[in-house]
This record gives sequence, C-alpha cells and structure tokens, in this order.
Amino acid sequence: MADRRVGILGLGAYLPEKVLTNSDLEKLVETSDEWIRTRTGIRERRIAEKGTPTSELAAKASTEAIQSAGLKPTDIDLIILATISPDMFFPSTACLVQNKIGARCPGFDISAACSGFPYAVSIGEGLIRSGTYRHILAIGAEVISGFINWKDRSTCVLFGDGAGAAVLGEVSDGHGILATYMGSDGSQAELLQIPAGGSAIPPSLASIESGLHYVQMEGSEVFKAAVRTMSDSVLEVAKRANVAIEDIDCLIPHQANLRILSAVCERTGIPLEKTFINLDRYGNMSAASTVVALYEAAKQGKIKKNSNVVLVAFGSGLTWAACAIRW
Ligand code: ACO
Repeated sequence: MADRRVGILGLGAYLPEKVLTNSDLEKLVETSDEWIRTRTGIRERRIAEKGTPTSELAAKASTEAIQSAGLKPTDIDLIILATISPDMFFPSTACLVQNKIGARCPGFDISAACSGFPYAVSIGEGLIRSGTYRHILAIGAEVISGFINWKDRSTCVLFGDGAGAAVLGEVSDGHGILATYMGSDGSQAELLQIPAGGSAIPPSLASIESGLHYVQMEGSEVFKAAVRTMSDSVLEVAKRANVAIEDIDCLIPHQANLRILSAVCERTGIPLEKTFINLDRYGNMSAASTVVALYEAAKQGKIKKNSNVVLVAFGSGLTWAACAIRW
C-alpha cells in the first residue's frame, strides 16, 4: 500500500473570456497601468460575467481534466474543491460540480485560500495512497470578482477569476508526487480576510454598508509573510522529496505578485527562468492560480517527462503548502 505512487493523470483549465486591463481599471479607481505593472507585474485579468457561479468555471475545467486523463466522469471517486468564492455557503460547490459534470461520487470543499490547490493535492494523494479511492478530482476555482470592492485600489487591481482541475491517480514507480507539505498560522488571520458574512459577523445592512463583505488586506505584511512562507515551503518540500534545489526543473508558484516571486527565487536559489509566470495575464486567481499555471506550463512544454516540479502557494489563514512532483 505505502508503495503506491500517486500522480497527475490529466489537467484542465477554464478562464472567462472577458479581459479587464490595467487601463480599464484606470477608469474605475485612481491608479495607473505603470503603478500596477511595476508593483505587481499584472497587466490584465479575466472577469466572469456577473452572476456566473464558481461551479460553472470549475465544471468546464474538470471536464477537460477528466477527458485528458482518458477517463469518464463516472470514473471519478471523489471531488475535492478548493475555493474562497463558493457558489453559496451550502451545499458545497464540489456537490454542484459533481452534478454539472455527471460524476457520481462524494465531494467536499476545502477552504485554504490561495493554498487551496496544493492542499487538495496533498489530501487526495494520501487518500489514493492509502487505497481508499482510485481517481480523485482536485479543483481550484474562483469567481472572486464578486467579493472585491471595485472602489478600493489597493485590492481591486490584484485579483482575477478562473478555474483549474487535476485528476489524481496511480502512476508508475519513479514518477508522481514525491512529497507534500502544508502549514497554517491563524494568529495572522486578520492580515487577509472577508470579515463579514459568516457567524462572527452575520450579513446585515450595517456589515454591507461598512464593506465588510469584501476582501480586506494588509498588503505589505502579506507580502513579507508570502516571501517567507513560500521560500520555506519550497526548501522543506525539496528536503522531504530528497531533491536538490538545483535539480528542480520547474517552480509553479502561486501567482500573486512578480516581486514576491523574484524574492522567493532569490531566497531559495531557484533561477527566475525556471519559474512559471502567468500572473501578467490573469492576476491572482487565489485557489485557481497554481493549477492554471501547472496546466499552462505542461501545455507549453515547460514540464517534460521526468521533470522535477514544485508547486508552492501561500494565502489567507495564513496558509501555505507545497508539493514536489516527478512528471
Ligand atoms: N494604484 C496606485 N497607487 C496605489 C494602488 C494602486 N492600485 N494601491 C495602493 N496604492 C498606493 C498606496 O495608497 C500607497 O500610497 P501612500 O504612500 O500615499 O499611502 C502607495 O501606493 C504604496 O502602497 P503600499 O501598500 O506600500 O504598496 P506596496 O509596494 O506594498 O504594494 C501591494 C502593494 C501590490 C498590494 C503589495 O503589498 C502586495 O502585493 N502584497 C501582497 C498581496 C497578495 O499577494 N495578496 C494575496 C495573497 S493570497 C490570498 O489568499 C488571496
């Protein structure tokens, strides 16, 4: 049992068609394309049409992932969906996706913000390795645009909508997930949160008037924590996987900010050229970020057979996570 090796059998992604550029944002808030590009590296992001549920994006990405794995929806044994923008409090978005794609299996959501996809992969890997399930669909999906205050220039320029999915299953020896690592620190929860709408501050006219149902963030503190935790996570997962830093062929980081990624590369010793970056086109898609980046890196041939790939993410919670995979 313990020798069972779990890997990624298929990947899918879906990005809404509507593009919101930095120049478009100049018309909404006092900002500039130059400020956004130099501070974050972001040029544009995708925004779902108003009223589009996260499950719709997730279902499209999942259908592609299942097809690329050569499977049918009914071959999926479990759905783990990571999001901070679920369709609703309950039922879980995983259940709604199960129905939309025609799967017949259990499913649940996890809340680990931007670290959600590597968290889902870590959980799925354990469940397959133990022999409990055979094929698990791990999804990262967000329609975060509905939770952004489009009058707050310090947050609205950062985020975008999108979804990605991966089918996990058994792979041949020598390949697959070599090691995983997850962490969290709730003492820093207030650095990045949507304060209202839950049991702590139930939705009310007052909570809405105060904007407490929108993403709120202490940008510079989040920045420092992101650099520290993502760097430490890369080093830890590489150690657990017994892969030397110079043998990492492709780093797939959470796509929050180009300056964060440069600092992580500097601290870990991984060259920026080995780091896959698509935040210029999509911004920060929270739980969807790492899986969409993985999908595009694989499509573009940046990941080849036997490549050592490290996924790493950081997010609200605070949370952080990493996975080392031999492709
Ligand atoms: N356009 C123009 N000016 C702006 C904008 C904007 N969009 N946003 C902020 N400013 C101004 C500020 O008001 C401030 O002005 P002041 O000096 O007059 O007060 C000035 O720019 C500098 O602001 P800082 O916040 O210090 O700018 P910083 O260089 O730290 O960059 C940023 C801000 C981009 C948000 C950065 O802190 C960052 O990327 N932090 C991490 C964000 C992140 O990764 N969040 C997601 C984590 S994952 C998840 O779970 C969702």
